[in-house]
Amino acid sequence: MTEHLAFGPLTIVFDERVLRPREWTAAQSAWAAELMATAPPGPVLELCSGAGHIGLLAVLVSSRPLVCVDASAAACDYARANAVAAGIADRVEVREGRLETAVRDDELFPVVIADPPWVPAADTGRFPEDPLTAIDGGADGLDVARACLAVVDRHLAPGGSAVLQVGTTAQVDVLASEPSFAEGRLAVVEVRQEERGVLVRIDRG
Ligand SMILES: C[S@@+](CC[C@H](N)C(=O)[O-])C[C@H]1O[C@@H](n2cnc3c(N)ncnc32)[C@H](O)[C@@H]1O
Repeated sequence: MTEHLAFGPLTIVFDERVLRPREWTAAQSAWAAELMATAPPGPVLELCSGAGHIGLLAVLVSSRPLVCVDASAAACDYARANAVAAGIADRVEVREGRLETAVRDDELFPVVIADPPWVPAADTGRFPEDPLTAIDGGADGLDVARACLAVVDRHLAPGGSAVLQVGTTAQVDVLASEPSFAEGRLAVVEVRQEERGVLVRIDRG
């Protein structure tokens, strides 16, 4: 059954096939919007966009194009509908597919938003109301976060920033040993503990 939910000034539609929009994630939109103010010109990439609300709210008051990527057809349909309702469908492209292959080799994005599943597989039973594909991050909860980092590594424009969401600061510490950080191509600039998750700003190293 389709539900409607206020997300900042937006009205977001979704149903039980996608993750229910979490109010606190407006903080990710706000941080990305803040970074957009000084980032080089160009489009914003949102990985694991679900119903699209985080990215849509982030770009709402800018004129930047937004590219949303999600593997779920239902999520993509809602992201498109939510872009229309937000009045910005003319600058929103929704790509249905796995993020590992959805971005073309020559594309660069000055701002990347990423909201991968981050619940360790063994703990997903604690959230029976959530679609498994939206929350299951594999053994340590970081399988899709690592894939997002690989996309950031390849497609973050010089001078740009990414805002990645994970579950805990301990997960940030684990990610810090990924090659893109260890080899200095990417750097963690700031970590913010939010109400029910953690946001990480990542720049080029
Ligand atoms: C934690 S949910 C976030 C959705 C939305 N941003 C939100 O706040 O509700 C993760 C999303 O990632 C998508 N997803 C999982 N693995 C993916 C992959 N490999 N490529 C693209 N999307 C993926 C799921 O379909 C789901 O919509």
